[in-house]
Amino acid sequence: MSSFNISQLTRVVNEAILALDNIKTSENLKKFKIKYLSANSQIVKSGKLISTLPADKRAEAGQKVSQFKETILHKYLETAEKIENDILNQRLKNESIDITLPFNRRVLGARHPLSELIDEIEDFFTSIGWSISDGPEIEAEWFNFDALNFTPDHPARAMQDTFYTTQPNLVMRTHTSPVQIRAMLSQGVPIYIAVPGKVFRSDELDATHSPVFHQVEGLAVDTNINLSDLKGILSIFAKKMFGSQAKTRIRPSYFPFTEPSGEIDVWFEAKKGGGGWIEWGGCGMVHPNVLRSVGVNPDKYSGLAFGIGLERTLNLRHSITDMHNLVEGDIRFAKQFIQGGIKGGASA
Ligand code: PHE
Repeated sequence: MSSFNISQLTRVVNEAILALDNIKTSENLKKFKIKYLSANSQIVKSGKLISTLPADKRAEAGQKVSQFKETILHKYLETAEKIENDILNQRLKNESIDITLPFNRRVLGARHPLSELIDEIEDFFTSIGWSISDGPEIEAEWFNFDALNFTPDHPARAMQDTFYTTQPNLVMRTHTSPVQIRAMLSQGVPIYIAVPGKVFRSDELDATHSPVFHQVEGLAVDTNINLSDLKGILSIFAKKMFGSQAKTRIRPSYFPFTEPSGEIDVWFEAKKGGGGWIEWGGCGMVHPNVLRSVGVNPDKYSGLAFGIGLERTLNLRHSITDMHNLVEGDIRFAKQFIQGGIKGGASA
């Protein structure tokens, strides 16, 4: 363009506006800028030709040129902004996090101290070669009582201790001992098992009682099991639970399914009013009638058995004075038992 030509200029501007509509990359935008907005562009060049026009045409031509420049610049900036936004959006899309992907979860809760204790007990018994067994919490009266040598009129069967169900002969098991029967029937003898589990008795919830609590049953039946084995296993188990200083004794007692029967006591130096023995659970040598009820010959086999309260174990070990703490499930309580939390222990 060697002379100022307004219609040609108008064409160039229209061409430029159309071109901008199709520009999607900053690279193309740069090329556009060189072609239409640089010193070599037709618009800028034609601006310089204004001086060649007759004086009375110059003002109008100058206005036109700057109007054209502005139109192109305006549309150019609009396009530049759009391209920038597109790039940003694409980046956000590429770098966004997929919140549905699995990640390394940090546990915010805490397991119940009873669950931790049950793991600890299972580890101990499996480490000495025993197996872990279980049985149903709703139990046939025959397993819970009859097979365990309870006479039909034994007081433990009475309404105040046992939760009966609407089904005849089905009760909420009052102890883990029925699993002795189940395990011997299904696995035979010799047998060495530990049975942690829930048991139920119609007690009111108070500082030391709960209608639902936990026991661990122990049963070993073999050809040569005697009272010293019972004393030995309970002594080692107590040391595992309360520390290597823990002292135990077995005191005579009565259970229909053991003969002789005993209570296992642990010595606690910190007992209120000075050191003393505290009852930990029941134990004894398996009654011959129990072996007979599962078809095991009591002349050939003998067995030891024990049943230890797990809430009681935690309460003694950690000086927990209120059973409500174990029942209510407050996470602030449970968290204290995470490794490195509170520790108690029996003293010699
Ligand atoms: N089952 C008894 C109870 O709940 C405890 C026990 C178990 C006693 C095994 C002797 C042998 O009180």
